[in-house]
Amino acid sequence: MDAKFVAKEERDWRPAPAPETSSLATLKNAAKTCTACHLFRHATQTVFGEGAKGAKLMLLGEQPGDQEDLAGKPFVGPAGKILDRALEEAGIDRGEVYVTNTVKHFKWEPRGKRRIHKKPNSREIAACRPWLEAELRVVRPGLLVCLGATAAQAVFGPTFRVTRERGKVLKSEIAPKIVATVHPSSLLRQPDEESREREYKLFVADLRVAVKAL
Ligand code: URA
Repeated sequence: MDAKFVAKEERDWRPAPAPETSSLATLKNAAKTCTACHLFRHATQTVFGEGAKGAKLMLLGEQPGDQEDLAGKPFVGPAGKILDRALEEAGIDRGEVYVTNTVKHFKWEPRGKRRIHKKPNSREIAACRPWLEAELRVVRPGLLVCLGATAAQAVFGPTFRVTRERGKVLKSEIAPKIVATVHPSSLLRQPDEESREREYKLFVADLRVAVKAL
C-alpha cells in the first residue's frame, strides 16, 4: 500500500459518535460500528467495557490486547489474569466492577505470525474518548482506577506521571475519585521473580487504597 495513503488514513479521525443514552447496551451496540479512527480496520471487533451500570468502581486500561480482540471482552488475556488475582487479593469482586479501556480497538503490528501490541497515540485516544465519557456518564462510578500511563494521561493529561502519583486518591472532573497505578502487563515484563513479586505487592497495595477510598 502507498505509504502516503496509510499516513493520511491514520491521521484522519473524528470524535466517536456516542449516542445520548442511559443504556450501556445501546452504547455497546453503537460502538460495534465505530470508525472514528483507523484502528477498526485491522481489529477483529470493538471491545467495549463490561460490567454493571451503577458499579462503584471502574477500572480503565489502555486498549484490548490480542486475546481481548478475539474474545470481544476486556482483560481476559495474560494481563487480565494478573489483574484478577490482584483484585481478589485486594478484596475486590471483579463481578461488581466495570472494566473498560481508553481505546476500544486493538492496535497492533505484525511480527512474524504474531500480532504485537502498539501503544495508541493521542489522535486514537481522542477519537475514542466519547465512549469513555459515555460509560462514565452511565455507570457513574464513585472511583476510577487508571491502569497504566495511557489511561492516567487520558484523564490527567500528558505530563501526568504514574510513578509519582500512584496509590494516591486524586480528583478530576470525570470521576469523584481517581487512583492511578501501573498497568498489570508491566508486572509481566519484570526481569526476575523478585521484582515481579515486589511490583505485584505494590500493585495490590494501590488497589487497596482504591477499596478504602470507596
Ligand atoms: N491491556 C489493556 O489495557 N486492556 C485489556 O483489555 C487487555 C490488556
